[in-house]
Amino acid sequence: MKNPVVAVVSPKGGNGKTTVSANLAVAMARLSAPIVVDLDVHFGDIEYAFRLQPFHRLDSAVVALRERPQEGVEHFLTLHPAGLAALCAPSDPVSADYLSADEAFTVVDALIELERPVILDTAGGISDFTLGALDRATEVVMVCGTDVPSVQAVKKLLETMDRLEMDTTHAHLVVNRSTARCGLSVADVELATGRKAALEIPEHQSLAAGMNQGCPVTESDPGSSAGAPFLKFANSLLGVDRNRSSKFGRFAKVDA
Ligand SMILES: Nc1ncnc2c1ncn2[C@@H]1O[C@H](COP(=O)(O)OP(=O)(O)OP(=O)(O)O)[C@@H](O)[C@H]1O
Ligand SMILES: [Mg+2]
Repeated sequence: MKNPVVAVVSPKGGNGKTTVSANLAVAMARLSAPIVVDLDVHFGDIEYAFRLQPFHRLDSAVVALRERPQEGVEHFLTLHPAGLAALCAPSDPVSADYLSADEAFTVVDALIELERPVILDTAGGISDFTLGALDRATEVVMVCGTDVPSVQAVKKLLETMDRLEMDTTHAHLVVNRSTARCGLSVADVELATGRKAALEIPEHQSLAAGMNQGCPVTESDPGSSAGAPFLKFANSLLGVDRNRSSKFGRFAKVDA
């Protein structure tokens, strides 16, 4: 099984990056022990997605690692019973302003060295935090809505990555709200971006409810039409055979 570094990006805000990050993390936790890092440093919401009460956050972890490098980085993580761990964003935008991307990546790089899957949730736009995530990613998950601005932004992101000579062969298109009635079809999004959708996420109230309740749908209802696609996608990112059973023996049900 691989330990991918997954950057979850989308140039436009509100397209579903945190929803994808949280659900992927729970899905991966069935086979592995993923770490989610919230790089949306100003307004990160991974802590709400999992109803966490972090002791350490990205900014305090940077300071602690600088002062006590011998203690390692694992104790900065907030544990979740699903078997994943998170490093949450600073508590407020003012604290975040004191944190540079270079400093943040001292901690992120140390987490990557733990050889566990790492999911990097990012903010909209292409900040230094997002560029740092793209630089380190072995898999880039581009979350795209079915509206024209969203699709155009993903196209521009791919062009920008090309110009920066970043490898785009591991960039996966995720079409969110694929069933939205007034949106483009998945085929249209694929045509416009020149990528095949690796994951199609339906518009479903259980996804929104899960995020509001701090319990992603992959945890509350993994076999549902909203949850199951994440499990398959997580498998492929982990490089796991579809038929392999999970550590809890539940994979067969959703992969059938
Ligand atoms: N497929 C979906 N069906 C229903 N609701 C969804 C779906 N995807 C996302 N949502 C909801 O849309 C809102 C925005 O999603 P989310 O916070 O994941 O986006 P984001 O890209 O992380 O936003 P930001 O750029 O602000 O970080 C949330 O309330 C989420 O629950
Ligand atoms: Mg978000």
